[in-house]
Amino acid sequence: MSGRFITFEGGEGSGKSTQVGRLVERLTARGLDVVRTREPGGSAGAEDIRALALNGAAERWSPMTETLLMYAARSDHLERTIRPALARGAFVICDRFSDSSRAYQGAGGGVDAGFIEAMDAAVVGETKPDLTLIFDLPVEIGLERALARGGADLRFESKGLAFHQRLREGFRRVATEYPERCRIIDASGDPDAVFARVWAAVEPVLP
Ligand code: TYD
Repeated sequence: MSGRFITFEGGEGSGKSTQVGRLVERLTARGLDVVRTREPGGSAGAEDIRALALNGAAERWSPMTETLLMYAARSDHLERTIRPALARGAFVICDRFSDSSRAYQGAGGGVDAGFIEAMDAAVVGETKPDLTLIFDLPVEIGLERALARGGADLRFESKGLAFHQRLREGFRRVATEYPERCRIIDASGDPDAVFARVWAAVEPVLP
């Protein structure tokens, strides 16, 4: 049986990591070989880069340097985790991937979109996701949820409302630019309701 590459994307506090866990559980219960992973990170080297990229003050790295760090991490992650898993027919469920670079560093940080696409073509190449779920939520609600939770991503959470508004618009643009693989998931409501939306999007792509 051939595997699938499914990515979860969205702004802060969208509840996407909880939903990643639920989907992994559901697919595992069906007897599928499932690899749960995340970005930045997902391999030993990429996790080291994650610590570098996410810790520290909000302005520690410029958006350009962030882009280079994210793609360095992504390259290692693809080589050591994602491609080997897909090659053996596993399902790879990844919490964030290239669309986060498009939204955070591109739409949010102002890095040239053409530059990001060139990096993506070189690093990701044909290993594009089969399905991308974009969790969408009003910015105020997402930030409220994220701040209540705390966490490792404080560098981005502290960037202010305007940044997060650009982020949301950036993700929505990704969904219109790549309609064949992207589905927008309404992230409002309780986790059961959101998971029903997730499953409705995933079931059609199952082998
Ligand atoms: P994480 O703790 O995984 O946050 P979340 O629960 O919101 O997914 O932190 C990941 C952070 O890294 C998040 O703020 C988004 C950011 N990021 C980028 O800016 N660019 C990228 O390419 C990726 C993959 C993540």
